[in-house]
Parts: sequence; C-alpha cells; structure tokens
Amino acid sequence: MESFLDCTQVLDIPAKTQTNAFLDLPPSETALRPEVIKALDTLRDVGTEITIYQNATSYANKQSAILRANDILNSLNEYATNQIITPEKAIISGIIYEWRKLVSTEGGKLAGQGLLNPVRNPYMAGNPVTGSLFVGREDIFRRLEELWMSPEQGESVILSGQRRIGKSSILQNLGIRLGHQTTVVDFNMQIAGAGSNTSELIHHLAWQIYDRLPPTQKQALGEPKSQQFTIENPYYALKRFLNQVDKVRDGLRFIIAVDEYERIEDLIEKNVVEPKLIWFWRGLIQTYPWFIMIFAGWHELHEMCNYWNPLFASVKSIQVGFLSPHAAQKLITEPVPEFDIDYNEEAINLIIDLTNGQPYLIQLICRELVTNFNREVFEEGRERERRFTVEDVETIINNPDFYSDGNAYFTGIWRQAEKSSPPGQLQILRKLCNKELSPLQLEQETTLSLEEVQAALQTLQAHDVIREQDGCYGYTVKLMQEWVKRTIVPLR
Ligand SMILES: Nc1ncnc2c1ncn2[C@@H]1O[C@H](COP(=O)(O)OP(=O)(O)OP(=O)(O)O)[C@@H](O)[C@H]1O
Ligand SMILES: [Mg+2]
Repeated sequence: MESFLDCTQVLDIPAKTQTNAFLDLPPSETALRPEVIKALDTLRDVGTEITIYQNATSYANKQSAILRANDILNSLNEYATNQIITPEKAIISGIIYEWRKLVSTEGGKLAGQGLLNPVRNPYMAGNPVTGSLFVGREDIFRRLEELWMSPEQGESVILSGQRRIGKSSILQNLGIRLGHQTTVVDFNMQIAGAGSNTSELIHHLAWQIYDRLPPTQKQALGEPKSQQFTIENPYYALKRFLNQVDKVRDGLRFIIAVDEYERIEDLIEKNVVEPKLIWFWRGLIQTYPWFIMIFAGWHELHEMCNYWNPLFASVKSIQVGFLSPHAAQKLITEPVPEFDIDYNEEAINLIIDLTNGQPYLIQLICRELVTNFNREVFEEGRERERRFTVEDVETIINNPDFYSDGNAYFTGIWRQAEKSSPPGQLQILRKLCNKELSPLQLEQETTLSLEEVQAALQTLQAHDVIREQDGCYGYTVKLMQEWVKRTIVPLR
C-alpha cells in the first residue's frame, strides 16, 4: 500500500489501482480489517475516475470525472477518520492526503484553462447595442453636445448613415450622455408608425413626452386624453398639451428621437399621415426651444421627397461613419469587461482591415469566432488555445454562411445603390469588385458616360460604399466587395 504514495501526478493513480493487490482484494474475513478492504475498494473507484478523465476528449467529461474523483476522496477521508483504526489509518489517510493534492492540482489546471463551461457569447449583431458593447462615437456625441449646449435653443438634427452602421444605437445611448435636465423621448417609427392616422401618431407623441416627466409633473399635467386628439384637431391638441408641459417642465428639455424617419414618408405616400405634419414639426421646433428633434435614417434630408423641404433650413446633418480603429479594437477585444479570450494582433488587424470599422460586421465576425470556439472545444473536444488567430478569422469569412448571416447589411447596401439616383451605381459596384478603377476605366468598362460614372461615384462615395485613392475607386468595406463577388457576379 505504501507504493500508492509514490504517485507524482494524478495519471499515476490508475496503474496503482490496477495491481493484483487491488484487483483481487481478499475476502472480508481475512487478516485485513473489512474497513481497510472497503477503503481500498474506494481507492480503486478513484483510479477508475482518473482513467475516465484520461480518456475523455471533451472538457465537460474531463471536468465531471475529476470532480467525482475529488468527491470520492473527500468521503473516503471522512470514513477513514471515523472508521479505520491505527496503524492502517495512518497509511490510508496518507494516501488520501497525497491523492487529493494530485487531483486538486489537476482540477486547478483544468479550471485554469477556463474550459469548464462554454464561453458566453458577448457579441451582438443585429439589435441596437448599449453598455460596454457600444463603443466609439465620441465625435458624434461631441457634435450633438455642441448643438445642444445652449439652454435657450437646441438645434434639431438628421442622423444619417448606411445600413447597420449604428444609428439606432446612438439614439439609445443618448440619454446616458446628456445631463439630467435633458430627456430623450423615444419616437421610433417602427412603433409610432403603427397608428392608423395622423391623430393617433400625434397622440402617441404626446404620451411619449408625458411618460418622460417626473411623477409630480405628470400629476400636475394629467394624461393626454385620446378624445382631445381624435375628436378635436390633433395639431391644436398637441400644441395645447405642449403649452401645459412648458408650464410644468421645470427646465427640462426634450429630445424627440425619431428613428427610421423614412417610414414617415411611406405613411404619407399611403395617405396614413398628412404631409403637413412636417410643417407642424418645424413650427414646434421653432416655437419651443426645449423641443428638439433628432431624426435617424439611411437618407440625408436632401435625398428625401419634397415633403421634407420645410425642415431643410431648420435641422443640422450629421453622418454616422465607420468606427475608428481604436474603437474597433476595443469592441473586438473587450466586448464585456470579463471577456477572457485573447486575439493575436494580426487577427485584430485583419478584422479591422476586412470591415474598415463597420461595427455590425465586426460583431458578426467576433460572434462567429466565439461560436466556433465553443463548438470546437465543447462539442468536438478539441484542445486549443484561448486565443484567436488569423486562421480563425479566415475560417469565418471563408464560410458561405457568414455572407448569408450578414445579408441584412450586404443587401441593404446593394438595394440602396439600386434604388437611389443616379442610376448606374450597380454597374460600377460590379466592376469594382475585381479591382480598383479610375472614372475613365469605368467609362470604358460600363455602358455609362463619363458624366454618369462621375455622378454615380459621387453618390456611392457619399454613402460610404466606395472611397477614392490616387484617382482610383474601390470598396470601403472589403467584405462588401467579397459579397458582391460571391453573390452578385455569379448571377450574370
Ligand atoms: N457603437 C457601436 N458599438 C458596437 N457595435 C455597434 C455600434 N453601433 C452598431 N453596432 C453594431 O451594429 C448593429 C446594428 O446597430 P444599429 O441597429 O444601431 O444600426 P442602425 O444603423 O440603426 O441599423 P439599421 O440601418 O438596420 O436601422 C448592432 O447590433 C451592433 O452589432
Ligand atoms: Mg436602426
């Protein structure tokens, strides 16, 4: 039995428990005390668990086996202390002591690799993001603060940018950045647009403003009653309501965040909403310095229909572009403070190079990296470093599923080029997916005149789809270029 103390690592244990002495334990009526035989039998169970641990390929199974071995040793220790008598007690307790040390060292190693549970995937690709997942945009917040700095008059704003660039996320993070004297009223057109006429839309706006008031002011004001807006003229009703808000607001300013503002145009086209609503809003912006509107959408104001003319002179434009390399790196490496998988520097640079800081695509790649990691380690039982490499990134972006998962972004950019004027943008995008070209080369390679090429290039550039370098044009986002190559070009 003393040879059991020779084990120097946990994997030595099974060999000890497979010796003849263990396999053929004497019957309980022999010279050995039954308690000792029971203890030896239990030590054999420990050996069995260590063999399972050794043969397990999945970390989950390894973890379970090592925990069971530990539990068995703990119970045996209690048994030995209470049931076994000297002199065997000293030997058995010594074995238990040594083996517990070995098992806990091995358990510690396993836990140190942190592979006991799948990694919670912190990245989010789709819905607006807040908290640590929201990075960058300091330039935009600075600009907004400038525009809204004056307590007397804040400027209304159009926030435009390509699909999935982070417009809604900026709106959702506004409240955290502004002082307590400013409150953000959510007037997302996906919800506000559910009304069936102008009255309902305006009534919904009154409710959203009312909801942002502190309780005492709410009480002083009273709820905006439906009949005031539906039976009477809704414009006058809102005006009267805002006059009352003005009396109780106690210095509070309201930022009305109208997300997906293009939807208003759809509603006007469908005769659900009256075009004069835009004039009315302009009137409110000009009447109440504490009533500020921020519209967010894909289009700049000058790209919208004439309905929007009233706002031209009354709002400032801010374009939402790609994340800076610094913000992109933060998003990749620290999506949550406790994230514990590393990235090689080359892998970070590759992600930034492929996306040019497009936040949605960064999150999509990183989300897939974590999903793949969990699959490899916990489903396939592969051992791997907790570190993402260039090869890991390449595996993701070479998988056709990546391009279908990112379809909302890719087709969003493509559709905008298809539907916006001038025509010819798609021809250019097709040509540019092979190499960068000058306007003259594009004229030769497409059916467009030089003027048409230049007009289309200007719009594509304004939408951040292409950029110019040394007289030649190419994609801003390499993954968009790759999507066109894979998805669009083969169709012809
Ligand atoms: N500042 C940011 N930091 C980190 N990720 C971001 C940021 N902004 C956007 N994202 C990523 O982009 C995705 C889309 O964000 P968001 O919905 O805000 O974009 P959007 O421009 O409003 O999109 P859409 O054009 O579809 O309305 C988010 O799920 C997230 O993955
Ligand atoms: Mg949005």
